[in-house]
Amino acid sequence: MSNLGDKVCIITGASGGIGKSVVEKLAAQGTNLVLAARREEVLEDIKKSLPNQEKVLCIRCDVTKQSDLENLVNKTIDKFGKIDIVVNGAGVSSQYPFWQQPVEDIEKIMHTNYYSYVMLSRLVVNHMKDAGGGHIVNITSGSVMVDPPPRNFIVYTSLKVALRAFAKGLFWEMRDFGIKVTSIFPGVTRTPLTGKLKDISEEGGRLMEPEAIADTVLFALTQSENTCPLELAVINQQTPWKKPVIPFKQDHPEK
Ligand SMILES: NC(=O)c1ccc[n+]([C@@H]2O[C@H](COP(=O)([O-])OP(=O)(O)OC[C@H]3O[C@@H](n4cnc5c(N)ncnc54)[C@H](OP(=O)(O)O)[C@@H]3O)[C@@H](O)[C@H]2O)c1
Repeated sequence: MSNLGDKVCIITGASGGIGKSVVEKLAAQGTNLVLAARREEVLEDIKKSLPNQEKVLCIRCDVTKQSDLENLVNKTIDKFGKIDIVVNGAGVSSQYPFWQQPVEDIEKIMHTNYYSYVMLSRLVVNHMKDAGGGHIVNITSGSVMVDPPPRNFIVYTSLKVALRAFAKGLFWEMRDFGIKVTSIFPGVTRTPLTGKLKDISEEGGRLMEPEAIADTVLFALTQSENTCPLELAVINQQTPWKKPVIPFKQDHPEK
């Protein structure tokens, strides 16, 4: 899938840090893009900044709602007639000791960061199968490589671990139909999401930029037909080593 100019790609979380960077990278390739997020006005502003605007469709979509996901897929097919690529990038975070975590946050993380990735995959996979190929890219998290899951992030991380497992299984199940599946594991990246978290490195230079993650997505999408980068971790380089970007041992907030 090296020529991205004639491909059709849905990007969820297109209004956010990593998703928006992926949009910009793919727009530069001339890819037909469907930008999905709840803040449609932000999507429209992003569209205005892109080249090839006639190849860009913005769709308001709350990924926690089944009907919105179905509408996203249907509108994409109506306009472009096919779906070659999905980049699942919608995400929320919630950093709490488990016993204090708002109950509604648990549901929100589950639906946004895990269930919507699985469901959107389910909704597009038959289109890809019928077309003889496709590529699903999940923005997962570098936290999947931390065992046990980091304190105050256990719901977020354990669902990312589940997403990683799902994607690996999906790859093996869909491989014979020409469908690729890639999980990207970003380390800590400068986006609105990290801006809301506590205890992130005060040394701004240690945060990766979202363009680094978008470059990795582009790498995954431009490999030869017989090559699928199944998992790509992009982790903060720290030279010389001083301390983690997120402290290993985070104090409980009430201390
Ligand atoms: N930043 C990091 O350090 C980091 C590290 C590892 C993994 N990640 C993962 O990378 C992905 C993107 O994160 P980010 O850092 O780019 O976050 P971000 O800047 O906060 O953007 C999050 C995006 O998700 C969308 N979103 C949230 N809830 C949604 C919903 N219910 N329906 C539709 N869209 C929704 C937001 O759009 P609207 O608000 O407009 O709906 C926004 O476009 C997430 O899966 C995150 O877990 C990030």
